[in-house]
Amino acid sequence: MTDPRTPWNALYETGERLSWDMGRATPVLEEALALAAPLGLAPGASVVVPGCGYGHDAAGLAALGFAATGLDFAPLALAGARARYGETVHWAQADWFTTELGPWDAIFDHTCLVAMDPECWPAYVAACARNLRPGGLWLAVAFHDVQGRPAPPHAIPMAELRRLAGTHFEVLHLDHARRSHPRRAGREYLMVARRT
Ligand SMILES: C[S@@+](CC[C@H](N)C(=O)[O-])C[C@H]1O[C@@H](n2cnc3c(N)ncnc32)[C@H](O)[C@@H]1O
Repeated sequence: MTDPRTPWNALYETGERLSWDMGRATPVLEEALALAAPLGLAPGASVVVPGCGYGHDAAGLAALGFAATGLDFAPLALAGARARYGETVHWAQADWFTTELGPWDAIFDHTCLVAMDPECWPAYVAACARNLRPGGLWLAVAFHDVQGRPAPPHAIPMAELRRLAGTHFEVLHLDHARRSHPRRAGREYLMVARRT
């Protein structure tokens, strides 16, 4: 069986511009944190970014005072993250489905769920629940429109994410993102869910 890290690492190896990489934290991160603050998520809390890639969102969280972990299973992604942000973040090379490094207070999920094959989504949601402390928050940015391009990323309708999350989470917020990067405006949404 092929190592699932291989195709991702190969993409990083090309050194070409990666289609998903925006070179900075998504502006939706601030929107998510504003929604999570009244729910008790404050600087100092532990937040993991699964599939962190070059680590922009994890570094953004660290800059705001969160105890950020950037987790990715592709060694070259983490090498790129370290080169950009040094040790401001705890970088972890691990598989989201099997990591035992948590539990964390919150997850910031940006183009990780949607990068997975849909048949993996139930197991992915179960991993989110397992990797959070009870009452922990899952903040997820997902696409409802991929403009007809071949996956990944996969589009996931809001109702489908609500249904999937409902197996382990209470969905507290599910709406179109208001502060998207211009390249993604009108195509992505934000979910805030609490582990039940
Ligand atoms: C589309 S990229 C997104 C990177 C980053 N979140 C961003 O938006 O710039 C998806 C990332 O998830 C990582 N990944 C895929 N499956 C994973 C798994 N099971 N465990 C950890 N990382 C995984 C890949 O190596 C890749 O870096």
